[in-house]
Amino acid sequence: VRVIAPPTGANLGPGFDVLGVAYLILENSRDTLSGDVITARKTDKFRGVKLIDVINNPGLPIDSQNVAQAAGQYILDASGEFLGVELILDKRMPIGSGLGSSASSSVDSAVAVNALLENPFPRNHKKMLEAVVHGEAIATKGLGHADNVFPALFGGFVFIEDLNNYHYRRFLGGERMYFVVASPNLRSDTGEMRRALQSAPYDIPGLVKLTSDFLKRYLEGDLMDTDLIDLSKFVKNGGKIENVIDYLKGALSLIIGIRNQSATVLGNAMMTDKIVTPVRARYIIGYDNVKDAALSAGATGFIISGSGPAVVSSAYSQRDAEIIGDAKRRAFERNGVESKIYVAKVDNVGARLI
Ligand code: HSE
Repeated sequence: VRVIAPPTGANLGPGFDVLGVAYLILENSRDTLSGDVITARKTDKFRGVKLIDVINNPGLPIDSQNVAQAAGQYILDASGEFLGVELILDKRMPIGSGLGSSASSSVDSAVAVNALLENPFPRNHKKMLEAVVHGEAIATKGLGHADNVFPALFGGFVFIEDLNNYHYRRFLGGERMYFVVASPNLRSDTGEMRRALQSAPYDIPGLVKLTSDFLKRYLEGDLMDTDLIDLSKFVKNGGKIENVIDYLKGALSLIIGIRNQSATVLGNAMMTDKIVTPVRARYIIGYDNVKDAALSAGATGFIISGSGPAVVSSAYSQRDAEIIGDAKRRAFERNGVESKIYVAKVDNVGARLI
C-alpha cells in the first residue's frame, strides 16, 4: 500500500499545541509541495516494521529513531498481529520547515501499516492516535503533541480537547478560506523551538491546558468567565495578565472564525498571541518585514506555521493569496532569504491511500 499525508500548520497563533490545520496546496500555486509518501509491503524476511529506504533522504536515520518506523511499529504492536512490514519513505517535505514534515511521515506509516493488518483499526481508534503522537514524540525528542498529526490524519481543522485522553474535535474548512504560506530557506528544530519557550515569562504547559478547557467549555455551550480564574498563576516575572486574557479571547475567536468560515475573524484571531509568537519570531530572519508586507498586501492575518520558520497568512480569495504570497517572497528576498510560496485551502480529507 502507498499513503500520502498532507502538510499541516499547527498553532494558528493562540492555539499553541491545541489547534492545527491540514493544507491542500493548490496545483497552480507558485510553488508546489506534496506530503511525504510511504510505501509499505508485507515480507516474510522478519517480524516487525522496518524502514528499508528513504528516497530524497535529507540525512534522516533509517532505524527505530525514524518517525516512520516508530509509528508503524507502534500500530503493529498494538494489533498483536505477527507480521513483517518493509517501509520505503519518499521524503518529499522539507524537514524543519514548520509544515508538519515529521507528522506527515508518522501518519503515513501508521495508516499504511494499519492497512496491511488482518483486522485494521478504525482511523479514529485510540491506538491510531497514540501511534501518530508517538511518532511525533520521537521526532521532537519530547512528549509529543497532536496539533500536526491529527490534522494530517483526519484533514480539516482539529482542536485537541484533551491530549491525555486523546479527545479532539474536527471542523471542516470552507470555500472562502485561503492560506498563503511562505517557507523560507531556513531550518528550525521543533525540539529546540519548544525549549526556547522556557524563556517566555508564562507557564506555557498550564496555559495549553487552560486554553483547551476554555475552548471545550465554549463548545459545550458554556463560556468560562475569565474574571473568575486566577490568571496570575500563568504569569511569571515580566509577563502580563492582559496577554493571557488576549490569548484566551484570541483562541476563542479562532474557533468562531473556523466555525463561521471567516478569513477575517480567523486572521485577526491568529495575531493575538503575545506569548509564544514573540519568542519564536526572533529566530525568523525578516519576520517583521514579511508580516508588514503581507498585511499591506491584504492578508487578513499572519502567523508562524507550527514552530516555524514558515509563516502563513489567511486571505479571502486565491487572487489575494497570490498577491500576498508575492509580497512575502519579496520581503524575505530583501532580507537575503529565498522562500517558496504555497497557496492553499484546507485539506478536508487527511491521509489517503494512493
Ligand atoms: N505545537 C507544536 C509547536 C507544533 O509549536 O511546538 C510543532 O510543529
